[in-house]
Amino acid sequence: MNVKYMQTAINLAKKGKGKIYTNPMVGCVIVKDNKIIGNGWHQYFGGNHAEINALVDAGKNAKGADLYVTLEPCNSHGKRSPCTLAIIKAGIKRVYYALRDKNVLGSREMLEKNGIEVHEGLLKKQARSLISDYLKYLKSKPKISIKAAMTLDGKIATYNYDSKWITSEKSRNLVYEIRSHYDAVLVGLNTAIKDNPFLTTHSKKLKNPVRVVIDPYLKLPKTHNLLDGNVPTIIVYDLSIASIPKHLKKEGIILAPVDISMAKKDFNVIVRKLNSFSLKSILIEGGSEIISSALFSNVVDDVYFFIAPKLIGGKGAISVVGGAGVKKISESLRIKNMKVKKIGQDFLITGQLDKTSPTVI
Ligand SMILES: NC(=O)c1ccc[n+]([C@@H]2O[C@H](COP(=O)([O-])OP(=O)(O)OC[C@H]3O[C@@H](n4cnc5c(N)ncnc54)[C@H](OP(=O)(O)O)[C@@H]3O)[C@@H](O)[C@H]2O)c1
Ligand SMILES: [Zn+2]
Repeated sequence: MNVKYMQTAINLAKKGKGKIYTNPMVGCVIVKDNKIIGNGWHQYFGGNHAEINALVDAGKNAKGADLYVTLEPCNSHGKRSPCTLAIIKAGIKRVYYALRDKNVLGSREMLEKNGIEVHEGLLKKQARSLISDYLKYLKSKPKISIKAAMTLDGKIATYNYDSKWITSEKSRNLVYEIRSHYDAVLVGLNTAIKDNPFLTTHSKKLKNPVRVVIDPYLKLPKTHNLLDGNVPTIIVYDLSIASIPKHLKKEGIILAPVDISMAKKDFNVIVRKLNSFSLKSILIEGGSEIISSALFSNVVDDVYFFIAPKLIGGKGAISVVGGAGVKKISESLRIKNMKVKKIGQDFLITGQLDKTSPTVI
């Protein structure tokens, strides 16, 4: 055991600062014959865990080596193969982790069962302060909101799908600020295709949320703004898709398979998937089908409806909430604690979804 190796792991972890929100900063080194033979850290949101990067760096040499990592290795068969398995496969002899991860179950047992010596607590204090933001984040309350910009007659686009711009620049700037308070911003495929949005905060001062697009059959074109790599983008797609287009296999694009037919029946399927990436607050920005799906699955907490003093009419022009709609007024979803604010010439109406409203599913 050597403290200096854990210190190196802590220093490596810090290289991820600013790039891995909402994941924790983690660093790892592999040591053999008193020499560091592998370095790794969690480099970007949705990227490899630090242990995997260090094991790859060490290569075959890792057999019989010691592994120092700032956080307990993961052990769950979630979206990726667990680090415990990679450690066992690589033939590591001893594992030193600084801090226990309360979200991880059974990794110590798993490693020990496979003949690996496990030590906990080396530089624990430093390792905890490394992830203090993350620990605070874990305690924060989850929230799902809807934001839409509509005309006074409740339309979010013309019959020709034109939607730029319904509201004023002042309102749109406020939307950028609202985005910065969320972990993720989400849109449906039609919205992504029709509007080609960036979904960023368009400002260096405002934190960018992770972008999420529901693209069931991976149809987003290579040149789409959401694939520009400037901010991580999660693509939620159908798990039946076996071949992933080459342009989606790059840093900053995270693929999230779900059962889309289930997701259409219950938006919770998508929310749970996003939660597995430790994304707790999600701003849904349309379009009308996605908004309807989320609202009638009872996952929404509150809404931001921007209303512009415009009328565009047209039976075929989509309104803010799509889907089949309710049959009777008594079945309406209700919004409570409504507040109205004037933003330039527009109005912003905010409110919370009354969770006791009847829902159609
Ligand atoms: N003014 C605004 O604030 C604003 C905001 C966003 C978009 N828009 C406008 O809205 C239009 C697009 O809206 P839209 O309603 O046509 O499209 P959308 O909601 O962006 O996407 C609809 C697609 O999502 C699928 N879908 C719906 N719920 C789903 C779920 N729970 N899981 C997986 N997939 C699901 C639908 O599948 P199925 O077809 O199989 O049902 C459909 O293919 C564009 O013209 C855009 O400009 C305006
Ligand atoms: Zn891991």
